[in-house]
Amino acid sequence: MFERPRSGERAVLVRLGIGAPLDPEDLEEFTQLATSAGTVPVATITGRRDRPDPRYYVGSGKAEEIRLEVAAHEAEVVLVDHPLSPSQERNLEKLIGRRVLDRSGLILDIFAQRAASHEGKLEVELAQLKHIASRLVRGWTHLERQRGGGIGLRGPGETQLETDRRLLGQRVKVLTKRLEKIKQQRATGRGARVSIPVPSIALVGYTNAGKSTLFRSLTGEQAYVADQLFATLDPTVRRLSLPGGTQVVLADTVGFIRDLPHELVAAFQSTLTEARGANLLLHVIDASDPRRSEHIAEVERVLSQIGAGDIPQIKVFNKIDRLDIQPRIDLGEDGQPTAVWISARSEAGLEQLLRAVAGRLSRAVHRMRLHLPLTAGATRARLYAAGVVLDEHSSEQGFDLTVDLPEEELAALERLPDAVVSAAS
Ligand code: GTP
Repeated sequence: MFERPRSGERAVLVRLGIGAPLDPEDLEEFTQLATSAGTVPVATITGRRDRPDPRYYVGSGKAEEIRLEVAAHEAEVVLVDHPLSPSQERNLEKLIGRRVLDRSGLILDIFAQRAASHEGKLEVELAQLKHIASRLVRGWTHLERQRGGGIGLRGPGETQLETDRRLLGQRVKVLTKRLEKIKQQRATGRGARVSIPVPSIALVGYTNAGKSTLFRSLTGEQAYVADQLFATLDPTVRRLSLPGGTQVVLADTVGFIRDLPHELVAAFQSTLTEARGANLLLHVIDASDPRRSEHIAEVERVLSQIGAGDIPQIKVFNKIDRLDIQPRIDLGEDGQPTAVWISARSEAGLEQLLRAVAGRLSRAVHRMRLHLPLTAGATRARLYAAGVVLDEHSSEQGFDLTVDLPEEELAALERLPDAVVSAAS
């Protein structure tokens, strides 16, 4: 139902400098977004205005220029890297005779293409419906068609617009309810999963920083990697073994981007739940990007917004192969690793990274000896399933295990009848 650019569609890109000169980096990011959505940019129109024009946003002279470019390149869609009001979008479409998408519409579309999990898809559909609702003046006749011709849906005397609003409202309600259910289910599932909490690490970072590449290099898994923005919309979770044998789980998450359409913030945040519950964040940064400081600040801002601002973090400066510098670890004043310089692609510095992670986690995880009675077979099985057992001796008195566990978990195990926790020799 969402008017999305189809793969391979020829697109004319429009980006102006408003009250300031146009920044070429902005233009480059926008071109990347357009490519990520699957369009083929055939022309780019730039310019400068003091303020947006109420009718077309870009001004009538510029609008005419777009029309001519579209005709000259036989473009099928116009992508405008500004927030257009519904009427500006409509006025441009009328003048140019082609579909016009603004930045929010484009990002929504990319999210829709990338969402993989059930929850991700529902969140994105909800965001799209809200986006459409603000543009309903157009009359979305195709909504009816989707529902078998709308028999029984249209009340007497009801206008097209009212029907559309009612249908949208119904769908929004259904989706919201389903999402609530999924969240509830996940909360219970999560409860079961954390019965033996293995430390968890989440990769976060600006889109295209190299998170999926690093995830794959570290875990040997074929997580989806592409030179496209938002290749990862749903977290992927894998187990990872650190030097010294400590087991952790590593989660990949969706990339951050500035000016995220507000309709998408919920969809985006729901994909970040893995990050919120992590013991350690690896903040992946494209060190070769001239805007890296801005990107770091943006990621930090969102992290504190979702309540992950206080989670310990290591900055991972990636793509050092492009800068021709050597891998290294930076230490903070307390001697703890704060940053690691690596190349996820060439795998240079991965060893340092794992060492830094082990160093930061050593405070969270303790290596202890655990004695369990023979009757505690179920607990023993859970510990093995969590991969935290390093060594075991069994006797008639029970099992003697060497385990790596966070403090809270050791305290919980100590409360089991006949269990004893002592320092590992
Ligand atoms: P999103 O899914 O958008 O959040 O991206 P991501 O952070 O997961 O990035 P991804 O791993 O998909 O990598 C983006 C691009 O950067 C791909 O073309 C990678 O091949 C490239 N890349 C990743 N790591 C390196 C690196 O160390 N060096 C170089 N030169 N390129 C890299």
